[in-house]
Amino acid sequence: MKTRNRWTAALAVISLALGVGAASAQTIRIGVVNTLSGPNASLGENIDKAIKLYVKQNEKRLPPGVKIELLMRDDGGANPDKAKQLAQELIVRDKVQLLTGLIWTPNAAAVAPLATEAKMPTVIMNAGTSNITTLSPYLARVSFTLWQSSYPAGRWAAKKYKRAYIAVTDYGPGIDSENAFEKAFTEGGGQIVGKVRMPLANPDYVPFMQRARDAKPDVLFSFVPAGPSATQIMKAYGDLGMSKAGIRFIGPGDLTPDDELQNMGEVPLGIQTVHHYSAAATRDANKAFIAAWKKEYGAKSVPSFMSVGGWDGMDAIFHVIREQKGKLDPDQTMLLLRGYKNPNSPRGPISIDPRTRDIVQDEYLREVRRVGGELANVEIETIARQVKDPWKEFNTK
Ligand code: PHB
Repeated sequence: MKTRNRWTAALAVISLALGVGAASAQTIRIGVVNTLSGPNASLGENIDKAIKLYVKQNEKRLPPGVKIELLMRDDGGANPDKAKQLAQELIVRDKVQLLTGLIWTPNAAAVAPLATEAKMPTVIMNAGTSNITTLSPYLARVSFTLWQSSYPAGRWAAKKYKRAYIAVTDYGPGIDSENAFEKAFTEGGGQIVGKVRMPLANPDYVPFMQRARDAKPDVLFSFVPAGPSATQIMKAYGDLGMSKAGIRFIGPGDLTPDDELQNMGEVPLGIQTVHHYSAAATRDANKAFIAAWKKEYGAKSVPSFMSVGGWDGMDAIFHVIREQKGKLDPDQTMLLLRGYKNPNSPRGPISIDPRTRDIVQDEYLREVRRVGGELANVEIETIARQVKDPWKEFNTK
């Protein structure tokens, strides 16, 4: 009896050391490259909160014995070298089985070759330049492309306005946004009366907005990264009295992020934008999402489109884990991501286009209005349904 007890004890120790047995079930490590410090930390916070809330609510839906471990890393902002270094460490040292996060286009582009080399399935939760998903077969995107919002925005704007000025941040998503808007607006008979590209780092928007004002357009179309940049450009638009000068301000939804609206004063009231998500949307899945968010993070906390990128990204990741019963194979994971669908995302019905590994979703025309005392992006119309990335569509035809 004594010997048997000793053997049992010894076996238990060995099992623990080897990490076998029911008590130490398999753990899937997921590396999250996100922005948690610096001037754009609020963007990463939105994703971080969404990931944690999703896991808290859905952990019980993982296969029996399967756990996940999130390895959160901070890239500090648009910083490709840092993002690459973090991804490398997560892959080589921490042995993650999936990568995700990635707010910034330059960071996602820097991680792409590593994803290919390591066969590392990577779920992009934000970065929105169209070509990113072509940089590696191991990338899938659950967020958006700027073409997806700005092309329908241009088509819509051409019916309302004749002369447009375009001001965008001078990097991937800004250039995509400019090209998409210009193509659709001019195809619709509109005229571009001027264009300017603005720096990504520490921009002072006033001189650029002054140039736009001097061109006397009917409408100014702008992309800047969501977050404090959006608030700063909105302030410049207000300070220069552009609304009173008769110049309307439009853009993709990055211009009026749900979580920034309360920092913008009265200026954004009436501004119309095109985007795939609004925290004010009244569909049931969004009402449930908002209720859960406020319960977890407080009544004043408002999720943004980046939060929904984080939420849906985790849903896609949980899908591939469930379908493989916790034993992940990189190529099988990519196959499953290509087939991912959710008819009930907070943003509406979504899927991944199996051909391009890019998100397919509806685009809404929204207007900033006061709802219950706070500014909100009220969805007024679905202006494009189940949109595939237009850039890819145009470039394969
Ligand atoms: C990007 O870098 O791809 C990016 C960043 C912020 C946005 C949209 C796109 O609001």
